[in-house]
Amino acid sequence: MDASDDGWLLRGSGDPSEVAAYYDAWAGNYDADLDDWAYAAPTVVASALLDRVPEARLVLDAGCGTGLVGAALRSAGFTGVLHGIDLSEASLRVAMQSGAYSVLDTADLQQTLAFDDDSFDALSCVGVMTYVPDVERCWREFCRVVRPDGVVVVTQREDLWDERDCAAVIDRLVADGMWTPIWVSDPEPYLPNNEDYTDRIGVHYVAATIRS
Ligand SMILES: C[S@@+](CC[C@H](N)C(=O)[O-])C[C@H]1O[C@@H](n2cnc3c(N)ncnc32)[C@H](O)[C@@H]1O
Repeated sequence: MDASDDGWLLRGSGDPSEVAAYYDAWAGNYDADLDDWAYAAPTVVASALLDRVPEARLVLDAGCGTGLVGAALRSAGFTGVLHGIDLSEASLRVAMQSGAYSVLDTADLQQTLAFDDDSFDALSCVGVMTYVPDVERCWREFCRVVRPDGVVVVTQREDLWDERDCAAVIDRLVADGMWTPIWVSDPEPYLPNNEDYTDRIGVHYVAATIRS
């Protein structure tokens, strides 16, 4: 990203067409920029997911972008079917070239997902919740499409954690018998080499098992 970004990445947006346009324009440079900023979340999530469901054969990467999570899952040994969905068609084309994904589709995580209940063994959602203001609706949908005893692993920016009441959302999903959290991290480094984030804005990781 250059100066024309004008703080957009930090500010974010919940408008799907604005988000798609931003990530379409960035798709060609995204991987290199994230590498420069020491982005570790895809590797952390891939290993958290496979540690908890090593037998997973069918995984949904929700908001897959250019495919960094898919690459991390493959590097960590995942050999099953990997389905990626995202708003940004240009990012999906980069993900396709990575060869990590079995299926790639355009989809909006603010809408009901076009999958049956219990479709996946596990789901990853990394760096995406900035753009999804209704956290509870989205996480309930994740619980719906993952099978009982499967796992959901998501990230949420530290500065949005309280603003969007994420701890309370987690608790409501527990109370409603949707999931059992197995890991809710303190803030960990997110984009340490990006001047807007440095050590000021970290990331929370949430991993939860879907209830039977
Ligand atoms: C910071 S990137 C993260 C991409 C990838 N998960 C990673 O870790 O590199 C955020 C991604 O979320 C996608 N996104 C944002 N809002 C979305 C929505 N409502 N539905 C689907 N994808 C969305 C964007 O298009 C973008 O590719």
